[in-house]
Amino acid sequence: MANLTIRKLEDAVRDQLRLRAAQNGRSVEDEVRVILRETIQGPIGSVPPPAPFSQRASDPAPGASTGIIHVTLIIGGGIAAYKALDLIRRLKERRMRVRCVLTRAAQQFVTQLAASALSGERCYTDLFDAESEFDAGHIRLARDCDLIVVAPATGDLMAKMAHGHADDLASAILLAANRPILLAPAMNPLMWTNPATRRNAAQLQRDGIRVVGPNAGEMAEAGEAGLGRMSEPVEIADAAERLIRPPRARPLAGKRVLVTAGPTHEPIDPVRYIANRSSGKQGYAIAEAAADAGAEVLLISGPVDLKSPANVTLIAVESAREMLHRVEAALPVDVGIFAAAVADWRVASEGDQKLKKTSVGIPTLHLVENPDILATIAHRTEQRPRLVIGFAAETENLLDNARSKLARKGCDWIVANDVSPASGVMGGDRNTIHLLSRGENGVAIESWPIMSKEEVATALIARIVSEQAFSPGGSPA
Ligand code: CTP
Repeated sequence: MANLTIRKLEDAVRDQLRLRAAQNGRSVEDEVRVILRETIQGPIGSVPPPAPFSQRASDPAPGASTGIIHVTLIIGGGIAAYKALDLIRRLKERRMRVRCVLTRAAQQFVTQLAASALSGERCYTDLFDAESEFDAGHIRLARDCDLIVVAPATGDLMAKMAHGHADDLASAILLAANRPILLAPAMNPLMWTNPATRRNAAQLQRDGIRVVGPNAGEMAEAGEAGLGRMSEPVEIADAAERLIRPPRARPLAGKRVLVTAGPTHEPIDPVRYIANRSSGKQGYAIAEAAADAGAEVLLISGPVDLKSPANVTLIAVESAREMLHRVEAALPVDVGIFAAAVADWRVASEGDQKLKKTSVGIPTLHLVENPDILATIAHRTEQRPRLVIGFAAETENLLDNARSKLARKGCDWIVANDVSPASGVMGGDRNTIHLLSRGENGVAIESWPIMSKEEVATALIARIVSEQAFSPGGSPA
């Protein structure tokens, strides 16, 4: 099979190819494929109209995995272009990475050097850029970003967009885009109110394009005033941020959630204790997810090697009795989630001094049962949380044991998980959950796929939110 290198084609052929690709919103490689297919099979049948811009985000945006927002900033040719340089700064202040594209007219107002110095990235100007690292630069600039901002969006650029022109780099990017687009129009008031611009603006709105401004005020032209000034860079950056980072939903705002986590340490003497292998990761992840959902969170934790999640009140305890005491003091709460691996037994009378081998020989530890924190809270008649959730850590007969725990403990839900050594749950990062809940028709069991402990936490909080009593506007059970 022969290889075709587009860069090595004759200049005129390559330019034709790139123009055709730009006009069709395809990469050059895809355009070549289409031409070859058409040559062999005849013209391709009618292509369905593209979805609005806002619906065309099929491949993941770069920010989806890294959290860093990439913005392609198209600077149009108007006097407001100088404000676009300040906009680069404002976007970068908001942890966005900015790559600039200047139209030919924009280069009359700002330089490529200024845009690349401020953005810290190469600035692009040409559809047929021999130096571009991209074979299909307009496609990459349109897709390798989370958002495209056009500022200033001139009347001419808006007209080109509304009619799908692609005869320069900026318009080709806009035609090839599958990311949200934000326009900051700037033009003379008569141009803004002109019926042609009104029609174009309405079309762009139908296509899913977002607009910020323009504002009313003095124009650069002496004696002219009205609607047409570009929004201030801070306003545009705020609009960009709102578009790409919508405000988080806080469905548990106003709710108090208590979470127990980690192991407990039951002292034998001042230096020795009985403990278990719990890492506390699942409980901490739940506390974090509840705080993210807007709840006021009290995390009552045994000794663990974890940092406190943000926006959570951490109460550190050692023993089961101390944990029970701090849990009772934290009431009332709306939801109690008991994820701690509480030690079932403690030494009846702990030594005041370190036990010495010489004085006791091999000691016999007399154990007594610890209070069951979950059962104590679930059986309260006063200040019982509206939703009490326990965990069942089992190494065998998972569902049977979880079912009887649900009844015995008196809680509403049991999050059952297999903690046998083979499962790797204890101290590990993943968990396979069965959620048992008591309903009118007996016990319902939901089996969740294997998830990370963070995902389990998010899913559990989502499940809590979906309970009628905890959804916004829901009434207490
Ligand atoms: N629990 C508790 N206080 C205890 C023991 C357990 O609050 N003293 C809670 C745990 O936080 C968990 C649930 O009870 O939510 C079940 O814990 P688990 O260790 O699975 O069960 P146990 O009651 O200890 O029973 P067993 O050890 O026999 O399985």
